[in-house]
Amino acid sequence: MKIFAYGIREDELPALAEWKNENPTVAVDYSTGPVTAETAKLAAGADSIVALQESPFTKEAFAALSDLGIKNLSVRNVGTENIDFEAAKEFDFNISNVPVYSPSAVAEYAMIQLSRALRRTKPMDAKVAKHDLRWAPTIGREMRMQTFGVIGTGNIGRQAIKILQGFGAKVIAYDKFQNKDIQAEGLYVDSLDELYAQADAITLHVPGVPENVNMINKDSIAKMKDGVVIVNVSRGNLVNTDDLIAALDSGKVSDVALDVYEGEVGIFNKDWTDKDFSDDRLADLITRDNVYLTPHTAFYTTNAINEMIRQSFDAAVAFAKGEEPTIAIKF
Ligand SMILES: NC(=O)c1ccc[n+]([C@@H]2O[C@H](COP(=O)([O-])OP(=O)(O)OC[C@H]3O[C@@H](n4cnc5c(N)ncnc54)[C@H](O)[C@@H]3O)[C@@H](O)[C@H]2O)c1
Repeated sequence: MKIFAYGIREDELPALAEWKNENPTVAVDYSTGPVTAETAKLAAGADSIVALQESPFTKEAFAALSDLGIKNLSVRNVGTENIDFEAAKEFDFNISNVPVYSPSAVAEYAMIQLSRALRRTKPMDAKVAKHDLRWAPTIGREMRMQTFGVIGTGNIGRQAIKILQGFGAKVIAYDKFQNKDIQAEGLYVDSLDELYAQADAITLHVPGVPENVNMINKDSIAKMKDGVVIVNVSRGNLVNTDDLIAALDSGKVSDVALDVYEGEVGIFNKDWTDKDFSDDRLADLITRDNVYLTPHTAFYTTNAINEMIRQSFDAAVAFAKGEEPTIAIKF
C-alpha cells in the first residue's frame, strides 16, 4: 500500500517517522506543497493521499487525482471549507478530516492566556525586560475570585471549564445544545445576556458558523460588566474587531486574548520581522499591553501534531482497504 502526503511541514516529520515505524508495510512519500491539478501527478501509484493546505481543493485537482485512479483524501486538520465537495462527489472520492485532535491543547492555551491577562504578565514581562523591577502599577486579579463565562461547551469548552474549576473559580456556561454533565453540575445560564451580565471574563468556544459571526459586537459588549476580559481562541469572525477596539479604548473591555483574527489568513504563521504589516488594526492590537495576541497557535503542541498525523494516515489506510474510518465525512 502507498500513501502520498501533501503539505508536510518540518515540524510534522518526527510524528510521520513514528507513524511509518508503526506501519512498516505502508510506503509513504510526501511533498511540501499543496494538492493541485499540476501536483496531482506526484501521487501517481498511491492508494490514498493525505493533505493539509489553506488553498482550495479544486475540481481540477480531484479530476487529475481521479485520472490516476486515486479516490481517497484524508485531510490532517478540522476545516473542510476549502474542499469542493460537489467535485469530490462527482469523482467518487472518500474524504476524512481530523475533527478532534487535542481539545486540551486549545483549552489549556485559552486558560493560560486568560490567567496571563488577569495577572497582566505582558506589561510585567516588558518592565522586567528593561530592568524595571517595581511591582506597581502592574497589579493583578485572582482567578479564584472571578466568575468566568464559557460560551460553547463542546470538546474544548468543557476542558476549559475543568481547568477553571481547578482554580476554584465560579463558572457559568451557555450552549445552544446543553451537555448532560455540565447540566448536572448546574453551570448553565438560560441566555447569553445572562452570561454577559454576570461574567468577569468570557471565553468563546463556538464555531465560526454564519449565525455566530460577530457575536461579540458593540451591543453584546454593552451588556457585559465594566472591565470584562474576553478570550477568543476559536474563530476570528466571532468578534467584530472595530467594536472590540472601541471597547478597549473606552476601558469597557480591560484585556483581551486573541489567538484568532478576522483577517488572519495570509498573515499568521509567516515571519514579518522588519516588515510592515498589511493590516494596521492588527499591528495596533499587537502593540497594546492589554492585548495578548498570538497567531492561531493554541492547537500547536507535539501531541496535537502527532494526533493529526496518526488519525489522518490511519484513515488513509482504512480507505485504501475499502473500510470506512470513523472520521470519514458524509457528503
Ligand atoms: N485556536 C486554535 O488553534 C483552535 C484549534 C481547534 C479548534 N479551534 C476552534 O475552537 C472552537 C470550538 O471547538 P470544539 O472542538 O470545542 O467544537 P465543538 O463542536 O465540540 O463545540 C462547539 C459548541 O458550541 C456550541 N454552539 C454553537 N453555536 C453556539 C451559540 N451561538 N451559542 C452557544 N453555543 C453554541 C455547540 O452546541 C457546541 O456544543 C471552534 O471554533 C474551533 O474552530 C481553535
